[in-house]
Amino acid sequence: MNIKTINNLSVPVIVAPMFRVSGPELVVNACRSGVIGSFPAINPRTIDELDQWLSQISSSLADVPDAAPYAVNMVIRSERFSEELELVKRYQVPIVISSVGSPKAVVPAVHSYGGLVLADVATLQHARKAVDLGVDGLILLCAGAGGNTGWVNPFAFVRAVREFYDGIVVLAGSVMDGTSIRAAEVLGANLVYMGTRFIASEESMAEIEYKNTLIDVDADDVMTTKAITGIPANFLRPTIVSAGLDPDNLPAHSEFNIGVNRKKRWKNIWSAGQGVGAVKDVMSVSQIVEQLEKEYKGS
Ligand SMILES: Cc1cc2nc3c(=O)[nH]c(=O)nc-3n(C[C@H](O)[C@H](O)[C@H](O)COP(=O)(O)O)c2cc1C
Repeated sequence: MNIKTINNLSVPVIVAPMFRVSGPELVVNACRSGVIGSFPAINPRTIDELDQWLSQISSSLADVPDAAPYAVNMVIRSERFSEELELVKRYQVPIVISSVGSPKAVVPAVHSYGGLVLADVATLQHARKAVDLGVDGLILLCAGAGGNTGWVNPFAFVRAVREFYDGIVVLAGSVMDGTSIRAAEVLGANLVYMGTRFIASEESMAEIEYKNTLIDVDADDVMTTKAITGIPANFLRPTIVSAGLDPDNLPAHSEFNIGVNRKKRWKNIWSAGQGVGAVKDVMSVSQIVEQLEKEYKGS
C-alpha cells in the first residue's frame, strides 16, 4: 500500500480486526465498499478453517477490480504463529497487521512476496522499535479504543510519532464518523482504524444482543480494566453487572479466569471504545461506508 492506494479508498479507513467479531463476510463487504477489511488470524478455530477463510476472501475479491486490499492480524505470540505465517505467504495476504509482540519475524516473510506490514503499537518506544525493524506503517493504539486499548492521548501520540516517522500512520481509538477521520488526517494520520463502529454492522459475527447493547450505551458506560484480559481493555460496565460481577471490585485477572463459568462470563462481557455513543443503528457495511463518505466530504 502506498499513498496512491490510500487515495483510491472510499474513505481512508481500516475496519479493525476484532476477536469473535470479524469474519469473511465483514472483510469482503468492507473491501467491496472501498475500505480495508481485516480479521484476526486467531478467529477461525483451526488452521484448516483459516485456510478456508483466506480462500473465500481472496476468491470473492478476485473479480472486483476496485476492491480495497484486505489485511490479516497476526498475534505474534499465537501458539500456531508459524502455521499462520505459512498460509499468509501462500495466499500472499496484501497487508499483515502485527500485534502483541515484535514484528521481526513477519517483516521479511511478508516483504518476500511484496506484502505490507503494519505494526500495532501503544508506546513511542514500541513505535521506534517497529520502524527500526522495517515495517511499512504504524497503527497508533490510543486512549479510548475498543478491545485492548492504548492509553496515550491521540493528539500527543500522532504528533510525537510524526517527529521521527514519515511513513504510513494509522490512528486507532474512538474514530466513529467522517468528521473524526478528517480530524485524524489534519493531525497527521494517513488512515484510521475503526472497530466499534463496525461491530453493529449486519455482516459482523457479533451476537444481535451485543449489537443492540451498543445502541443503548455511551462513553459513560465504558470502563478500562486489566481484570478480564490481563492487559488494559475497555469493556461495557452494564455487561459486567449482567454477568453478576461488581465493576468496581473485579477479581484479579488470575482469579477471574478460574472456574466453570469462565467461558460464559467471557462471552457475555462485551467490549467497546469510548466512541460507542455514535452507534445508533445496525446497518450494512456499505451503508456505514456511504455515511462516512458523506460526513468526510462535508467536513
Ligand atoms: C470486540 C473487539 C475485539 C477486538 N479484538 C482484537 C484482536 O483480536 N486483535 C487486535 O489487534 N485488535 C483487536 N481489537 C482492537 C481493534 O482492532 C481496534 O484497535 C479498536 O477497535 C479501535 O478502537 P475503536 O473500537 O474505538 O474504533 C478489538 C476490539 C474490539 C472492540
